[in-house]
Amino acid sequence: MITIKNTLFFIFILFYSSIAFSDQTVEEIIKERKSIFSKNYKTAKRVNSLASNGDIDEAKKLMIEMSVNYKRLLDLFPENSKVGFGTEALPSIWENKDEFNLLMTKASSNMIELTSVIDDVEDVRATLGKYMWSGCKSCHSRFRAEH
Ligand code: HEC
Repeated sequence: MITIKNTLFFIFILFYSSIAFSDQTVEEIIKERKSIFSKNYKTAKRVNSLASNGDIDEAKKLMIEMSVNYKRLLDLFPENSKVGFGTEALPSIWENKDEFNLLMTKASSNMIELTSVIDDVEDVRATLGKYMWSGCKSCHSRFRAEH
């Protein structure tokens, strides 16, 4: 039941975030994507501690938030946002846009999948590693500059 509720909430947010999309300057786009990544990082750490302490319901809400954020990020790498404003995005993103988008979409759907597998796992740490942390690394290693 919780999974159904979460899924409906997810669809609802997706619907509204796509309507809200409008003309933004390059600076706004780069700043928004950076701030979403930073937020997801904080949220991921929170998911880690909540799930490790057995507060699964709270952790699930944040997993859904992260999933929605990844979907939003798909819109935040337009052609005109390759350089400037301290971006660490690598040119390889635009040379491999399909692959980049696929990784982002996978990161998003993995967070939803995580909400349903997390209830029954023995090893919470390993599960978070597989569904949440591995996505960061596989994308950064190819598409984000060393920092
Ligand atoms: C599909 C690709 C992708 C995934 C998945 C991804 N990232 Fe990133 N991340 C990027 C890119 C590209 C940038 C550089 C954005 C920029 O500077 O314009 C970035 C930047 C960041 C930043 C720096 C933000 C800033 O203020 O400059 C942090 C922190 C971060 N990511 C954390 C994470 C964490 C934690 C995860 C996993 C939970 C994650 N990312 C998943 C591609 C990804």
